[in-house]
Amino acid sequence: MSQYDNIGVKYDAVKSTPWGRLELFNFKKHVQPFLSKPQTNVLDLGCGTGFYTELLAEWGATTVTAVDVSTAMLVGAKARLRNSRYTSQVEFVQGDGLKPTVYGPKPQSYDLIAGVWFLNYAKDFKELVCMFSTIRKNLKPGGVFVGVCMHPVEDVYNFVVHHNSKVWAMTGLEDIYQDRLPGDAGFVFKAVFHPPKSVKFGQTIEFEAYHLKKSLYEAAARLAGLQSKLEWQHCDFSDTNFRYL
Ligand SMILES: C[S@@+](CC[C@H](N)C(=O)[O-])C[C@H]1O[C@@H](n2cnc3c(N)ncnc32)[C@H](O)[C@@H]1O
Repeated sequence: MSQYDNIGVKYDAVKSTPWGRLELFNFKKHVQPFLSKPQTNVLDLGCGTGFYTELLAEWGATTVTAVDVSTAMLVGAKARLRNSRYTSQVEFVQGDGLKPTVYGPKPQSYDLIAGVWFLNYAKDFKELVCMFSTIRKNLKPGGVFVGVCMHPVEDVYNFVVHHNSKVWAMTGLEDIYQDRLPGDAGFVFKAVFHPPKSVKFGQTIEFEAYHLKKSLYEAAARLAGLQSKLEWQHCDFSDTNFRYL
């Protein structure tokens, strides 16, 4: 059972926080330019309750195959898309990104693969290679993977020492760093989400994930066979809708 089976649609409240708006602004900015071709088939890994699955279709994807390991998250995603104008473009598959699987009609079927908070569920280098192998098996030559993950730093310990989780909590989501991983690979962290008062019946939710060092992401992508350009983008705080809680 996945930790997300206890969260399900409660996760949606994350999107109504300042933190959620910042995530949306930045993901849209970086993914939308790749959705302008007449035919763009997209794979959404770790789709959760389908928040970005639907938006990827709205922003121009011709089809979206949405994959998640958690039954409860997929129930939420299917419910979201049931009444959406994009319902006929979307297909859902339960799958584990740690088990490299072909999701399209043949290997390397997708022009774009999205992974919004997907790679941070790899607990070590080996698991990261598995996730990038899933991407490699499904991405067309010349295709693009756009992921959202923790801040790319080489010295995660130093980052953790200077991390001010109280300030981040003002955006709605607090990262509490816990155990240091073996071999200085990074840290386990607990994300504690405090829904804004405006969300009726909102509950605090918690989940655990991993912040691995930057070079592990880069080396894992290469080892899995992704050989073209790799870029890290900065989080852009200039969105005028961004306000602290
Ligand atoms: C933080 S949520 C993000 C959901 C969605 N991408 C979004 O931004 O709204 C992370 C999702 O990744 C899924 N996940 C975690 N590990 C996974 C794995 N190994 N394979 C597939 N999905 C996974 C979880 O079940 C959860 O739905």
